[in-house]
Amino acid sequence: MMTNKSIKNICCIGAGYVGGPTMAVFADKCPDMNITVVDKDKERIKKWNDQDTGNLPVFEPGLEEIIKKVRDKNLHFSNEIEKTIENSDIIFLCVNTPVKDKGFGAGQASDLKFIESCARQVAKHSKNHTIVIEKSTLPVRTAATIRTILNSSQGDNISDSKTFSVLSNPEFLAEGTAINDLKNPDRVLIGGEDQESIEALAKIYQNWVPEEKIIRTNLWSSELSKLTANAFLAQRITSINSIAAFCENSGGDIEEVANAIGSDKRIGSKFLNAGPGFGGSCFKKDISNLVYLSEYFGLPEVAEYWNSIIKLNNWQKLRISKLIVQKLFGTLRGKSIAILGFAFKANTNDTRESPAIDICKNLLVEGANLIIHDPKVSEEQMTKNLGMKANYICNNQDSNDYESTWSKNENIYSSLSGVDAVVILTEWDIYKNLDWKKISKLMRKPAWIFDTRGLLDITKLNNTDLNFWKIGDGLEK
Ligand code: UDX
Ligand code: UDX
Repeated sequence: MMTNKSIKNICCIGAGYVGGPTMAVFADKCPDMNITVVDKDKERIKKWNDQDTGNLPVFEPGLEEIIKKVRDKNLHFSNEIEKTIENSDIIFLCVNTPVKDKGFGAGQASDLKFIESCARQVAKHSKNHTIVIEKSTLPVRTAATIRTILNSSQGDNISDSKTFSVLSNPEFLAEGTAINDLKNPDRVLIGGEDQESIEALAKIYQNWVPEEKIIRTNLWSSELSKLTANAFLAQRITSINSIAAFCENSGGDIEEVANAIGSDKRIGSKFLNAGPGFGGSCFKKDISNLVYLSEYFGLPEVAEYWNSIIKLNNWQKLRISKLIVQKLFGTLRGKSIAILGFAFKANTNDTRESPAIDICKNLLVEGANLIIHDPKVSEEQMTKNLGMKANYICNNQDSNDYESTWSKNENIYSSLSGVDAVVILTEWDIYKNLDWKKISKLMRKPAWIFDTRGLLDITKLNNTDLNFWKIGDGLEK
């Protein structure tokens, strides 16, 4: 049960892509609240506190401006997790929930170790009544686990007044548009049982979100809605990608098809861009989770249905890699390829599950020399993702007898000098209006441009001697 005390102090555990931007917007919209974002990662907190906001650990358009405005006023970043929990009325759990890599459900089920350890920390250090809010995407019924942990702490308790309410309040922001999504959400979903706590949270959102957009449900519906929303979105991208492959083989044009079907209001025009396959921290993980849960609940056909989305998404990355090799005469040895874009989508520095990772790895295995450009992804991050240092020549005599290497180049045009192919993997705006006549002079012939995002206007490549492949474009050129 809630006490009548008004909500003043908010704690958010997890200063990542969700916790940081979400709390920045909360602080901006609720000047009377005092918000502290805590994280066990000291380096991350240091970056959030860096006076040069260009060094924030997360890149999101509009984020720097808000941070400049509210940081050290009513928004704080700290490593003092216990003390912050102690002083907070509401605690948001924004920690990551990776897929389990060992044991039962490995590769599919979510690993709740971070959520569990946070719940234990909250149980131990909170005082009085605390509202604990799940923001991370979690498997259905995780709230029950959190509640059990919180309630069982009361035995070894210091104060009898220590009570908890658990709410589910999933975040639907998409990276790259996070600030706008947070300021103008399609809906805010609050799941729970304790009406007073639900209304306390709704009251915070009412500072900027119209009441009709705040949906109240039970806990399980809220948790399941988040998984389902992500599964539907991923399924939609996979559907359009499958039809893109169909177009390429049958003479259709995916942009025309997307436009034609999208004008049907029941289908809608958004999220119909064919691409190299979906990436990001949520889609694959959430579908894997749905597959695991379906099997757990004795629904193998449902599991198989959702699993086919993951399979098709993997196939999309593979088929693009294969066709690049094919067009370059079946071998990449001794060939250089410029990769434009490494992030999983534009306007973010996030590379989690980026299709660029698998595609670049496939090209490296074929012996390519990759020159990678991305306006926001660091060389350090690329090294982690590719599992190999830049400029390191991988000469694997035993298996494939290939030599491959990669480097990062900050300048687009110099990265294209002497290359045999350009592969556009992320839809950054800066790639839209390149000077293809100039590029054509820089490249080794025969030269290929592979546009996996359908970003380029083909007329801009007219009067060049570049060969051009575009996703979902089956017209003969
Ligand atoms: C996202 C979403 O919140 C979630 O819905 C999805 O399920 C997984 O990823 P995100 O903010 O993108 O979370 O994750 P990340 O950028 O990895 O940030 C999580 C932060 O939590 C990290 O900075 C990590 O150090 C921190 N953390 C994790 C803690 O502070 N304590 C822990 O016990 C675990
Ligand atoms: C997603 C959900 O959109 C968001 O609601 C949830 O909170 C977290 O997961 P995010 O992963 O940040 O957000 O980005 P999103 O815009 O959904 O894109 C996911 C992937 O799909 C990206 O790789 C993107 O390039 C790809 N995509 C998206 C397409 O290939 N085509 C499209 O039309 C849209």
